Amino acid sequence: MDWGMKNRMNRIFKPQDGRTVMLAVDHGYFLGPISKLEDPKKTIEPLLPYTDALMLTRGVLRNCVSAASNVQVVLRVSGGNSIVGKSLSNEGITASIKDAVRLNVCAVALSVYIGTEHEHQTLLNLAKLVDDGEEYGIPVLAVTAVGKELEKRDCKYLSLCCRIAAELGAHIVKTYYCDDFEKVVKSCPVPLVIAGGPKLNTPLDALELAYNAVQCGAKGVDMGRNIWQSENPVGMIKAIRAIVHENADVKKAQKIFSDSK
Ligand code: 5RP
Repeated sequence: MDWGMKNRMNRIFKPQDGRTVMLAVDHGYFLGPISKLEDPKKTIEPLLPYTDALMLTRGVLRNCVSAASNVQVVLRVSGGNSIVGKSLSNEGITASIKDAVRLNVCAVALSVYIGTEHEHQTLLNLAKLVDDGEEYGIPVLAVTAVGKELEKRDCKYLSLCCRIAAELGAHIVKTYYCDDFEKVVKSCPVPLVIAGGPKLNTPLDALELAYNAVQCGAKGVDMGRNIWQSENPVGMIKAIRAIVHENADVKKAQKIFSDSK
């Protein structure tokens, strides 16, 4: 790995523990103004002090995040679909690597849809993006997306997806937590971060998810809805940060969540 690529990886995964708290706010690229992300600037700003890297589109970055901010950026560069369209898996690349350089990002992110009609297309998107990323020293984060088929998220399927993404050259893989998650981690040779998925029933559920994932070997989180759709978003990100960077257990994290109200 060349210096630029290594440096960008270290900007995402903090060198002191090799972990990251990534905040995903890219949902609008296919969901539009999803609840609590109608005004991205308002949602993002209070969370920035607790965020290692923001995952978002170039439109939200340019319009809703100050260029004076020192937060790291993981740029969503796949899309071309919508929740009201025919197929969520029908994605192409929506921003060039040159634009990623212009925006000074530390990684580019795309989704792969394994087991869908657009599996081949999204995997070739990944392979091409890795070629571009290697040329410019920009890591690629692959999201093992499932669209509306949330029931797909089991160990066998996610292990398959994460491994394929890593084999095609992804430098980071974002996936879902599942039972036997340590098996997913063991068979994926690059760092894994977890998505939170749709908002869980209680804050405790979200904290347990983050805790279990990190215990099983995830290198952190790339969570969205369970943070900014929480009734206490700052408390939630602080609590997750403690789990990721301070090895806090769920009880301690819950206290941090409640004390921040
Ligand atoms: C969409 C994404 C989102 O960034 C991802 O799902 C993370 O957010 P959440 O924690 O809300 O699931 O990659 O494909």
